[in-house]
Amino acid sequence: MSALLPTALILLPVSFAGVGADSADAIAEGHLTERLPTRGNRSETDQLAEAVNRAFDAQARAEATVRSLAADTSHELRTPLSTISGWLDLHRQGGLTGPRLETALGHIENEVGRMRLLVEDLSLLARLDAGRPIEQDPLDLTALAASVVEDAQVIYPDRSITLTAGGPAQVTGDTARLQQVLRNLVGNAVQHTPAQTAVQVAVITTPGRVQVEVADDGPGIAPQDLPRVFERFWRAEASRSRACGGSGLGLAIVEAIIHAHHGQVSVESAVGVGTTVTVRLNAQCTGTAPRD
Ligand SMILES: Nc1ncnc2c1ncn2[C@@H]1O[C@H](COP(=O)(O)OP(=O)(O)O)[C@@H](O)[C@H]1O
Ligand SMILES: [Mg+2]
Repeated sequence: MSALLPTALILLPVSFAGVGADSADAIAEGHLTERLPTRGNRSETDQLAEAVNRAFDAQARAEATVRSLAADTSHELRTPLSTISGWLDLHRQGGLTGPRLETALGHIENEVGRMRLLVEDLSLLARLDAGRPIEQDPLDLTALAASVVEDAQVIYPDRSITLTAGGPAQVTGDTARLQQVLRNLVGNAVQHTPAQTAVQVAVITTPGRVQVEVADDGPGIAPQDLPRVFERFWRAEASRSRACGGSGLGLAIVEAIIHAHHGQVSVESAVGVGTTVTVRLNAQCTGTAPRD
């Protein structure tokens, strides 16, 4: 960005000097919220100023994203770290003997697990962001969905979790990552809904396309929250309690993995009716992680 400004200033026609020069000086001095003035007349000068302003806007957005990711990550790590150091302090003061020591170790283990999951999720997102190639396995999404549903039925024996599929659904993709997508979606349908809520997974094949739907008849997501569900670390207020477990990276990971497969993911939800997440992949699709 710093290299962009001098180039832009050299290109600015003389007629732009005056009003624009003050703003350009201000930006060069570090006032990065300053923008070059435009007159809205689509002249070359205007178009150049708009392009420079857009580049500054994009840079500002990227910096804000990095800042908020760093802030969110440290916030997420702070709670488990304080819990662990609290138990260690207590132990040092001689306050942990007999069964209390066992309890403490259990808590510490839990918190270490949370931190490990968070670090794994973040490093997976970083790898996908960097456009690392994904595996290209020939796989049957119906079989993959069946194994994820079976696992979920074992983990949540009191929940109704069912699968409907018309037959095999061949795609080419990264088995482990697509399994993670299905686990995250089924996990959400269980963890963000009350105990009696049913979860239905459906695999639908159409010529050239495979669609997987994970639907629940739970409380749904408020319309104002819906556009935010794929944001990193975003959780609805009701999901922020530690009981729900997640740190708000699950759907961001789903989206990054599906985009790496050149597929699409969307969420439909209505309060009091339920939520359906739909993943669409090309049959026999091939993909790499996006490079932008
Ligand atoms: N099936 C669902 N029903 C209701 N809310 C959901 C559902 N799936 C996701 N959400 C909301 O979207 C948020 C983001 O989901 P996710 O990225 O998986 O984060 P996490 O599960 O770690 O909270 C959740 O915290 C929850 O508020
Ligand atoms: Mg989740």
